[in-house]
Amino acid sequence: MNPDLCNKANLNGKNVKMTIHIGADKGDIAETVLLPGDPYRAKWAAETFLSNVRQINDVRGMLGFTGEWKGNPVTIQGSGMGMPSLSIYVNELIRDYGAKTLIRIGSCGGMQENVKLRDVIIAMTSTTLSTPSRGIMKEINFAPCADWSLLQAAVQAAEAKGTPTHVGGIYSSDVFYDERPDLNEQMVRHGILGVEMEAAELYILAARHKCRALAVLTVSDHLLTGEALPSSERQSSFGDMVEIALQAAFP
Ligand code: HPA
Repeated sequence: MNPDLCNKANLNGKNVKMTIHIGADKGDIAETVLLPGDPYRAKWAAETFLSNVRQINDVRGMLGFTGEWKGNPVTIQGSGMGMPSLSIYVNELIRDYGAKTLIRIGSCGGMQENVKLRDVIIAMTSTTLSTPSRGIMKEINFAPCADWSLLQAAVQAAEAKGTPTHVGGIYSSDVFYDERPDLNEQMVRHGILGVEMEAAELYILAARHKCRALAVLTVSDHLLTGEALPSSERQSSFGDMVEIALQAAFP
């Protein structure tokens, strides 16, 4: 789509730029954006870690907030679940709002025995069966990978905090309720640390638009043991991940 079609410039004399899915004014979104899947986690993270917070989006209930972390402007915008949803928000954030550094913060299922509930996974690469970019990649098996400067800074931040952390490949799946256990077996066999549903498309879009991207994930359930964090504990154990992402963006 021509991005100009969804821009509404100079509405009531204000320089306003809204997209179909984000109702923020131009300038309301920072160059650094944290992307949790869950809009309520965006609200919690913004209220917990940022100062001078204001809500900048509520279109479709996909809440977004902008504030400051140690004086640096940061937006925390929900991306929804799955790569098609994330693709919509990340395209608009990059193409219409000028986002440059995009860090997914989310949960994942552990896939190795040494990966425990509440551990953090920093995703160096993400394997997929397909992504929304498959249509343009055609026969290319593109290797979605994290931005090195963000990855390195996130690892340093995690080490400084003492958070149990794993760095390596993850699997971005299109299904939560997987009817093909053999796929997960192959992932486990090839050392994949965890499964989630968004990072690969984030990495591909960042590569296409010359932006920086990273996914920092908290292990909320485990595919080998069947364990899962109770919902009451999910939010508190996600705090380390948010701080690691912020420190990676502003080392
Ligand atoms: N599968 C896919 N996505 C997930 C999972 C999972 O087990 N846990 C958290 N996100």
